[in-house]
Amino acid sequence: MGKDSLSITDNRTGKVYEIPIVDGTIRAIDLRAIKAGKDDFGLLTYDPALLNTATARSAITYLDGDAGILRYRGYPIEQLAAHSTFMETAYLLIFGQLPNKIQLEQWAFDINHHTLLHTNAQRLIESFRHSAHPMSVFIGAISALGSLYPDSRHTHDPENRLLQAKRIIGKVATVGAFTYRINQGWPLNLPDDELDYIGNYLRMMFRMNEHHYYPDPILVKALNVLFILHADHEQNCSTSTMRVIGSSQADPYSSLAGAAAALYGPLHGGANEAVLTMLEQIGATGRVPAFIDGVKRGEAKLMGFGHRVYKNFDPRGQIIKKMAHEVFAFTGASPLLDIALKLEEIALHDEYFISRKLYPNVDFYSGLIYQAMKLPTNIFTVMFAIPRSVGWVAQWMEMMEDEDLKIVRPRQIYTGEEEREYTMIEERK
Ligand code: CMC
Repeated sequence: MGKDSLSITDNRTGKVYEIPIVDGTIRAIDLRAIKAGKDDFGLLTYDPALLNTATARSAITYLDGDAGILRYRGYPIEQLAAHSTFMETAYLLIFGQLPNKIQLEQWAFDINHHTLLHTNAQRLIESFRHSAHPMSVFIGAISALGSLYPDSRHTHDPENRLLQAKRIIGKVATVGAFTYRINQGWPLNLPDDELDYIGNYLRMMFRMNEHHYYPDPILVKALNVLFILHADHEQNCSTSTMRVIGSSQADPYSSLAGAAAALYGPLHGGANEAVLTMLEQIGATGRVPAFIDGVKRGEAKLMGFGHRVYKNFDPRGQIIKKMAHEVFAFTGASPLLDIALKLEEIALHDEYFISRKLYPNVDFYSGLIYQAMKLPTNIFTVMFAIPRSVGWVAQWMEMMEDEDLKIVRPRQIYTGEEEREYTMIEERK
């Protein structure tokens, strides 16, 4: 075999195996040929948190964690945040190219005309208790949408997939806004197709009884950037969930509900909520050093810090931090900003965090902006789920066209009992 290969000597048998290397990876299935004996199943890899396993070939998002690089379809995230709109970025993620003017108008029109929710879905959302966590409502409502669009089970039809993609991108904003309104006990605002995606979302969230609601351009701009930054992040926990469920050919609403459930956890998208809870618990800048000491003793985590992939800085966090000040100039700063700045300052100079390469991630500052926009803490993860739905759908569509697509079915190392005889209940101690 040529140079692009790996030679493995199995010391149990003395046999040498040549395994091809393609794109810097070996195929795990090639290791199956490595057997200690005739009845041996073959070698497996053990990687419970998928720390070093590529599960997809994807052309959507490029991420270099050491260099702090994030690109969608080749475009640096900084350029998209500066020049693009969320709708345009959504088109880019789904179709792979930036749209021309006509394509963008048609796309925005199509998405806008899928924002209305079936009254059954609306009634379902209204039936949750007002105190239900908005993410529980979001997950439940998205899953229920599958029942309203049974055609979405035709997952092998590319035209149908695109139709569902447009429905999902249009409806997640409405579902997200409704979770907020019922949480507050306020009447729902139906979508208004005269506004663009972000303006419409802000209107559904914030319109009270004014006849005309005009979203503030500063908030529209800020939300555009936040939505762009959250739109995709390659094979993270929730996106992998989308792919795993989708691999069984479940409809995309069911897969997306699963992805949203994965996002809800505090180590993933739920971190933006957890950051605010942490800042509130610390309560004053004077208490920051004691909190940091507690983190170093393993009593708590510094939420909004650290990342599986970024080991230098999170480029999304840097953009958000800069933008936060523009938003605060308009809304007034979050009361917790000083605590956050103090935490960041101490952590960035402390050996514990430096040696573990722990830096602020996207969630450290986004919550402060949402708080300044007067949003309650428990809605923050929904604000992540809405734009990330674009990435989930783009990754699902890509996967459905992948010639390597098969149902995901990992292996295990069995650690339980050997075969044993059933004992009748009377004979058990
Ligand atoms: N605070 C304190 N210590 C930490 C933190 C933290 N936030 N994150 C990691 N560590 C320590 C960890 O205890 C371990 O220390 P030691 O080597 O002494 O055992 C070391 O750093 C390595 O951490 P790890 O747990 O192996 O890292 P991971 O790659 O498995 O976890 C993470 C990544 C994001 C789950 C983790 O950093 C974390 O829990 N951060 C806080 C939650 C958070 O902000 N999540 C949002 C991530 S960005 C949004 C998204 O895309 O999901």
